[in-house]
Amino acid sequence: MKIIQAKDYQEMSRVAANIVSAQMILFPGSVLGLATGDTPIGMYRQLIEWYRKGDLDFGKARTVNLDEYVGLSTEHEQSYNWFMRQHLFSQVNLLPHNIFMPNGLAEDTAAECVRYEANIRAMGGIDLQVLGIGHNGHIGFNEPGPVFTKNTHVVTLSERTLAANSRFFDSGERMPRQAITMGMGTIMQAKRIVLLCAGESKAEILSRAVLGDIDPMVPASILQLHTDVTIVADQAALGRMSMDELSANGVEVVTERE
Ligand code: F6R
Repeated sequence: MKIIQAKDYQEMSRVAANIVSAQMILFPGSVLGLATGDTPIGMYRQLIEWYRKGDLDFGKARTVNLDEYVGLSTEHEQSYNWFMRQHLFSQVNLLPHNIFMPNGLAEDTAAECVRYEANIRAMGGIDLQVLGIGHNGHIGFNEPGPVFTKNTHVVTLSERTLAANSRFFDSGERMPRQAITMGMGTIMQAKRIVLLCAGESKAEILSRAVLGDIDPMVPASILQLHTDVTIVADQAALGRMSMDELSANGVEVVTERE
């Protein structure tokens, strides 16, 4: 595991965008695993800027997203499909047939999970997976629980996640209680993983994920077992881990700028 320490959110976003664009320049046909949420928005903004300058080409890339709410159509402004179109897809030259997201309106959600998983496998797996981390340690919507669930599956969202995300829904509107998410096996099979983390409020969970036991109650802790994980985090998010603890745990830290 490697940590790149960025000064602030902006620098974290630029470093993460650099990692994604290096992947696309070296391997234009890459399968990119993408995340929604507040954290990667700056990275998407940077990628769009480089695309507009002509420095980046999404023409051959394929994307798969981590998750989608059950019951929301792609036209619902809180659907992750909408989010991705807003923050990336509509602004770069990704081809529509190369964009894959779980269908939140599938009548048979279990079959949709099987289809989604099989599609990722058929593409040869994910080359670079971008992740955020929830305050409870979730990645994708793999919530804390007794086991790590392997494949794409339907989850019931935890109270903490509902509370964190309910602010995005209109008052009176019922927030979806379930989501389809890639499983931990799907994520762990990605060839490379880059996890973005910003802000003091994430410092404690990030430290438990990086230095704590590998525990399904802290889903992100399983990333300790992956051989190619880079965490790009700002100083605030790294505030609960000392350099000594990190090096004692075999974590290499790169400081982006002194
Ligand atoms: C989103 C996702 C989630 C978020 C996490 C952090 O596709 O998979 O795991 O990455 O909830 O969200 P933010 O970035 O809003 O703090």
